[in-house]
Amino acid sequence: MSTPPPAGEQLVCVTGASGYLASHVVRELLARGYRVRGTVRDPADPEKTDHLKRLPGAGERLELVRAELGEPEGLQRALRHCTALLHTASPASTLRGGSRPASYPTGCLMVPPSSPRE
Ligand SMILES: NC(=O)c1ccc[n+]([C@@H]2O[C@H](COP(=O)([O-])OP(=O)(O)OC[C@H]3O[C@@H](n4cnc5c(N)ncnc54)[C@H](OP(=O)(O)O)[C@@H]3O)[C@@H](O)[C@H]2O)c1
Repeated sequence: MSTPPPAGEQLVCVTGASGYLASHVVRELLARGYRVRGTVRDPADPEKTDHLKRLPGAGERLELVRAELGEPEGLQRALRHCTALLHTASPASTLRGGSRPASYPTGCLMVPPSSPRE
């Protein structure tokens, strides 16, 4: 088994980056030295993104891009050059008590099958 590249050479995609779980994941990845590409539905919305931009390391290593579940092209773009994916985007919020729409049986099924390194 080959040794993985150092954290600083890896780009990790986190979907639903503004969410409760993902915000902690992004903070932890940045703290460990990874480059992070977070997806949000509206990168221009300060309510969704300001807390991420304030994280230590965000200025240098966090990129926020637009992606919507159900739009595979956006997810594919977000995955380009990534070595790992943490897929937390979900229309059903645990905190807000939402119900899971039938069109999103699980988040993972929405991830495009192509190689994330492409
Ligand atoms: N929180 C917990 O304790 C907990 C425990 C167990 C399992 N989970 C599961 O973990 C997942 C995330 O939970 P969470 O508490 O972090 O939820 P959350 O705070 O509501 O975050 C989910 C994120 O998904 C994004 N999203 C929603 N609909 C989307 C869509 N159609 N396309 C793209 N992005 C979309 C939203 O981001 P934007 O609006 O910014 O795009 C939102 O910030 C859920 O599946 C939940 O059931 C959570």
